[in-house]
Amino acid sequence: MMRFDVLTLFPEMFKPIKTSIIGRAIEANKIELNLVNIRDFSKDKHKKVDDTPYGGGAGMVIKPDVVYDAYKSLENKDRNPVIYLSPQGSALNQKKVKELSKYNHLILLCGHYEGIDQRVIDEIVDEEISIGDYVLTGGEIPAMVLIDSVSRYIDGVLKDESIKEESFSNGLLEYPQYTRPEVFLGRKVPEVLLSGHHENIQKWRKQQAILNTKTKRKDLLENYQIEQMSK
Ligand SMILES: C[S@@+](CC[C@H](N)C(=O)[O-])C[C@H]1O[C@@H](n2cnc3c(N)ncnc32)[C@H](O)[C@@H]1O
Repeated sequence: MMRFDVLTLFPEMFKPIKTSIIGRAIEANKIELNLVNIRDFSKDKHKKVDDTPYGGGAGMVIKPDVVYDAYKSLENKDRNPVIYLSPQGSALNQKKVKELSKYNHLILLCGHYEGIDQRVIDEIVDEEISIGDYVLTGGEIPAMVLIDSVSRYIDGVLKDESIKEESFSNGLLEYPQYTRPEVFLGRKVPEVLLSGHHENIQKWRKQQAILNTKTKRKDLLENYQIEQMSK
């Protein structure tokens, strides 16, 4: 069971994550998704949550007090990680995803506009995570990326094998996958996959995984070879 508390100005953006595999995991109580609307904590009669930046410049900055009050409304007695989704954070990768899945509670803070007043980030955030070197309008899509990728490691969300064999799990990209029909537009499924010979199939898949990684992500293959040599 994993609980995600998400502090956001746009809880309605999280509809897509409640679909398909993650949606079913939420329904089956394998995952709990608690969306907290930061705006509910505004003391302003117009429910204002942002203001112009000190020192001037473009855009609006989310006020520290509303974010702090939204955070304080949550229970975090065990001091589980508070993660700010930010383009300035360290890049999310499969190793980090796996690491995060060991917790049973994560608190995700989504920025919007120009970002969030630095003082509340300094006060409550343990870690900043980015989903890549580009800037999005808000932290909601990054939060969904993190929730989706971490949830796949939570017991009962996927079949175990899916995680063991896939890209990045062993330092390589996955081998190509095929399903029926046996011939499609004149292209045949590789013979070995029809052979029923488990050992040969495993061998072929390993070779294909290496080839795939060599073609698409040479950088990964180099790290893989270094790791294999040190084993
Ligand atoms: C327009 S961005 C603010 C960018 C900020 N002014 C800067 O230059 O670092 C608004 C919000 O979107 C989120 N965000 C944007 N790009 C992101 C990324 N690559 N990874 C994670 N979060 C991102 C963050 O929560 C951020 O506070």
